[in-house]
Amino acid sequence: MANTTVTLIEGDGIGPEICESVIRVFEAARVPVQWEKAVAGLVAIEQSGNGVPQETMESIKRNRIALKGPTTTPVGGGHKSVNVTIRKGLELYANVRLAKSMPAVETRFSGVDILIVRENVEDTYAGIEHFQTPNVAQCLKLITRPGSMAVIRYAFEEARKLGRKKVTCVHKANIHKITDGLFLDVFREVAAEYPDIESNDIIVDNCCMQLVSRPEQFDVLVLPNLYGDIVSDLCAGIVGGLGVAPGGNIGKNSAVFEAVHGSAPDIAGKGLANPTAILLSGIQMLQYMGLVGHAELIQNALTTTLASGIKTRDLGGSASTSEFTDAIVANLGTPSSDLKVVAQQQAPQTKAKEAISEVWTLVGADVFVEHDGLPTMPLQVGRFTLKLMSNRGTKVWPGELPDILLVDHFRCRYIADGEISREDVLQLLSTVTATGMKWVHVELLHQAAGEARYSKAQGE
Ligand code: NAI
Repeated sequence: MANTTVTLIEGDGIGPEICESVIRVFEAARVPVQWEKAVAGLVAIEQSGNGVPQETMESIKRNRIALKGPTTTPVGGGHKSVNVTIRKGLELYANVRLAKSMPAVETRFSGVDILIVRENVEDTYAGIEHFQTPNVAQCLKLITRPGSMAVIRYAFEEARKLGRKKVTCVHKANIHKITDGLFLDVFREVAAEYPDIESNDIIVDNCCMQLVSRPEQFDVLVLPNLYGDIVSDLCAGIVGGLGVAPGGNIGKNSAVFEAVHGSAPDIAGKGLANPTAILLSGIQMLQYMGLVGHAELIQNALTTTLASGIKTRDLGGSASTSEFTDAIVANLGTPSSDLKVVAQQQAPQTKAKEAISEVWTLVGADVFVEHDGLPTMPLQVGRFTLKLMSNRGTKVWPGELPDILLVDHFRCRYIADGEISREDVLQLLSTVTATGMKWVHVELLHQAAGEARYSKAQGE
């Protein structure tokens, strides 16, 4: 079999030491890959001032697969995170982490084997934030139908490929009815295409509680970005922490695998680093490449090594990075697999639509104004009627002013007597301006299929 070229970014801190371990184990296991080394992080900044040089991005794009060691993000100096640059630049839409109990890694739990699939680009991580008044900041939480579809479909495909039984959607759709509601709707549509895999959903707070009481009930979790960020670290904690947490960032055209931990500058160059997480990331990469036999071989050697009590210092052992690696190499070829792989089944022909189109009717506008105390807004403007005002989401008009903390940011909801145009909204804004009110933000209110495409205020 011809060798596949894989980009290897060793990173900095303990990066080169743990990557050396992967190189040795892969070579001994005769994995058919050849490495193309590329730089990122501190080394790259020192060489060219750029944390992710163009050649590195080109290498990943060309080879489509990369294994990455940790990179230090210098504090201050305006250096962008290498990981975020790579993730966004290559549209790596799914972050996949495995939380699996390992022998001889002592934790409160056993029998944990959870695959966490986190949406990696959208949600509040789109990075669209504004101050709207001196006292009120806003972050846009963007959940899209195609973005959700891509990551959820990936979760089901992985479940099928790895012989997993159940996919659970983690959300907060009881509160974020529109955004998380969309994620959950898409989940249900996609789940219908995989009748061979059980599917269910759980609210994120309950999920956290269940994870720290009965984690063995979960198989595959799929989550929007923010919940995924938090829950995946929680899962890493359940199985023994950063030293054993691998991950992969998956895109349509390329994938980058890396350990969850950082560059550990406190132990760099001392031979103390635990290469388990990066090795597990390498195993995840081999599975992704379809090199399942090699993945299984290395997984078994690693498991056998840990079970025999050979561990690095962070896990309570005394082996150095290279002694631990020697033991894994010596254990290559030990039987008994704990990797599950089954034949892929045919996907059904009908597929949920990535993007939909709907006839939308513009029926109103939410005009946000900066004001100290309840503003005096025009009650009627052309075809618009002021229906309500709210402060931090709670209705403050009409009716009695509730006893709540008021900030200088009021949402004034104007509803029209039928379909209106954007010109009508401009007219509304100029009338508001003429009354001396300082509007700071506007949202259009639409209806489709007889339903509002916006949320109601608390108390509306
Ligand atoms: P860290 O994960 O590097 O270290 C936290 C603690 O865990 C340290 O005590 C360290 O010695 C230990 N540790 C981590 N990995 C270990 C391993 N494989 N074996 C044994 N002990 C290990 O987190 P920290 O200190 O917050 O970050 C250091 C640098 O790494 C920062 O510049 C940060 O930005 C960067 N970082 C990079 C990541 C990446 O490239 N994927 C991820 C997280 C942090």
